Amino acid sequence: MSNKLLEIKNLTTSFRIGDGYYAAVDDVTLTLNKNEVLGIVGESGSGKSALAFSVMGLHNRAKIEGEILLKNNDLAKMPHSKLNKLRGDDLAMIFQDPLTALNP
Ligand SMILES: Nc1ncnc2c1ncn2[C@@H]1O[C@H](COP(=O)(O)OP(=O)(O)OP(=O)(O)O)[C@@H](O)[C@H]1O
Ligand SMILES: [Mg+2]
Repeated sequence: MSNKLLEIKNLTTSFRIGDGYYAAVDDVTLTLNKNEVLGIVGESGSGKSALAFSVMGLHNRAKIEGEILLKNNDLAKMPHSKLNKLRGDDLAMIFQDPLTALNP
């Protein structure tokens, strides 16, 4: 059985600004294996949250290109109803500044 849990291939997440699209996540490829913890480091505005939002399917109007494979299902192409069933079980996110959202 494959040890891969999450595989992101050439993910580009772009926002429409004026007449053009601007990439906040530009061609990201990574693999997260089972029992592995992966940290993503970068300066403010480098796209860490935009990447996490892309995996969770939480962007409203972004253009998502590439593949986000979880157990061989492409989250980027999954209907929201199906993605919703994975959230909280296979996928979860602790948002930035969690103390504003969670009871300590
Ligand atoms: N919904 C949006 N529409 C347009 N631009 C956006 C949107 N969300 C994020 N951006 C832009 O995308 C870029 C990446 O932002 P992001 O929030 O992912 O950075 P970050 O690495 O998480 O920063 P920080 O360390 O401050 O949390 C920034 O230039 C930001 O302004
Ligand atoms: Mg962030």
